[in-house]
Amino acid sequence: MNVGIPKELLQHELRVAATPKTVVRLKKQGFEVLVESGCGVRAKFSDEEYVATGAEVVSSAQELYSSSDIILKVQPPTEAEVGLMKRGTLLLSYLFPAQNLPLLGKLAEAGINAIAMDAIPRISRAQKMDVLSSMANISGYRAVVEAANYFGRFLNGQITAAGKVEPAKVLVIGTGVAGLAAIGTAKSLGAIVRAFDTRKEAREQIQSMGAQFITVEIDEDGSTASGYSKEMSQAYIDAEMALFKRQAAEVDIIITTAQIPGKAAPKLLLEEHVMAMKPGSVIIDLAAPTGGNCVLTKKDEVYTTPNGVVIAGRVDTLPTQASFLYGNNLCNLLDDMGKAENFRIDMNDDVIKRAMVTYNGKVNWPPEPLAVSAQAKKTEAGKPSPEEEAAKKAGKVKKALISNVIWLAVVGALLFLLGKVAPADFMGHITAFVLAVFVGWNVIWNVTHALHTPLMSVTNAISGIIIIGGLLQIQNDFSDPRTIMAFIAILIAFINIVGGFTVTYRMLKMFKK
Ligand code: NAI
Repeated sequence: MNVGIPKELLQHELRVAATPKTVVRLKKQGFEVLVESGCGVRAKFSDEEYVATGAEVVSSAQELYSSSDIILKVQPPTEAEVGLMKRGTLLLSYLFPAQNLPLLGKLAEAGINAIAMDAIPRISRAQKMDVLSSMANISGYRAVVEAANYFGRFLNGQITAAGKVEPAKVLVIGTGVAGLAAIGTAKSLGAIVRAFDTRKEAREQIQSMGAQFITVEIDEDGSTASGYSKEMSQAYIDAEMALFKRQAAEVDIIITTAQIPGKAAPKLLLEEHVMAMKPGSVIIDLAAPTGGNCVLTKKDEVYTTPNGVVIAGRVDTLPTQASFLYGNNLCNLLDDMGKAENFRIDMNDDVIKRAMVTYNGKVNWPPEPLAVSAQAKKTEAGKPSPEEEAAKKAGKVKKALISNVIWLAVVGALLFLLGKVAPADFMGHITAFVLAVFVGWNVIWNVTHALHTPLMSVTNAISGIIIIGGLLQIQNDFSDPRTIMAFIAILIAFINIVGGFTVTYRMLKMFKK
């Protein structure tokens, strides 16, 4: 099967759908790779690099489209490009299906099976193919780097011989993928970071990144089952704007990323907010492509307001890095589709059936919704009532009680029978042993999973006691059953202690930087 990578026609599109490294992966997947001459130049990849990794360079788009079974693209194809594709071609590209219905019609008519990479559902399994996330991650990082460039001071605080420098204060509005990446980058550069989002679940994410979560008094949640946020009430937006007015006077850099899929970006920063900012402050508006979160943003422009605030309506897309991640996202999808050998379009697959916007000559849009937000699922699907929960708990307790009584009866009967033949001191030991197993089992069984690690420390203490007991019992005579038992006890307790320390150490390592 041939995979083709054409040159992007849009002048401002610097990315390419496959880098030389992507070609290596595609070849490993069993595909033959054709690239249009010059396709990677704007992302800093030469034709020679593609050839070196096993791709065939073709000189015209016509040749590329007519020889390819799968086309990897960044921007949606033009009408002319659709005209060059063979019937039955699989196209993987950004398509913006909600805004591009006429294009979908043309693709369906031309018999192209098209996967809109921007319509991959945001579920955990599909994270590796989620181009929205990989690109938003880049823009969030880059927003901070560019803000630092326009800002005339350090981002971190410093005490030097030449004087004390206060850290910069950064406000991030909207903490989806880009917002969280911006928080991470600003924190790593030493700034004081505050952040706001309409989705309640964002609070923990913001705090876990080390930023301060700021909020409004109104109790309204922006979460939806799709994972995206919904449009908020006017009262909420007004409260947000009042909050931002206070923040604007305090912070040095504002990075806005607030967006609602398929809608214009909410206007959250008015002229009065910009006027309240100190001269030299910076606003990076990542929502500029969908209208901007600031009313003064000019799309694709960077300018300084009369009161000295830099407003950026664009950030660099880091085409070299972006092409690499985008190419990887596409390869991951091709992996899931069975690579060249077992390639198939599985319309029962949750990801494929939602992202495949044209299939077998038909437009397959809009897709049926898929719940991805754990938060929304909890609230929208409805929690069980307290009565239901109490009844469930009571049922569990009753079941446990019955099974314990049965076990005790069975074990009691066995001990009774054993007591008829075994010596009295053996019966004393075995009864204590059985009771210890029973009590220990019930205690450990009822400990929640989250507490298993601290529990392990307790078992380490018990293992210590076992080792001491074992050492006291061990004799010089290795044929003595007591010595064998003591040896086994010491060995198992030793394994338990070493294992406990290893697991605890590994868990602690996860919390260290
Ligand atoms: P986005 O680009 O659509 O929106 C950016 C952020 O703006 C969102 O966090 C949204 O809540 C916020 N926002 C909207 N209106 C706002 C307002 N008036 N004021 C302040 N903030 C506002 O979001 P993105 O980055 O595409 O992520 C959308 C969701 O998908 C997030 O919940 C994200 O965590 C989730 N996601 C899940 C993935 C998964 O695999 N489970 C992968 C990627 C994202």
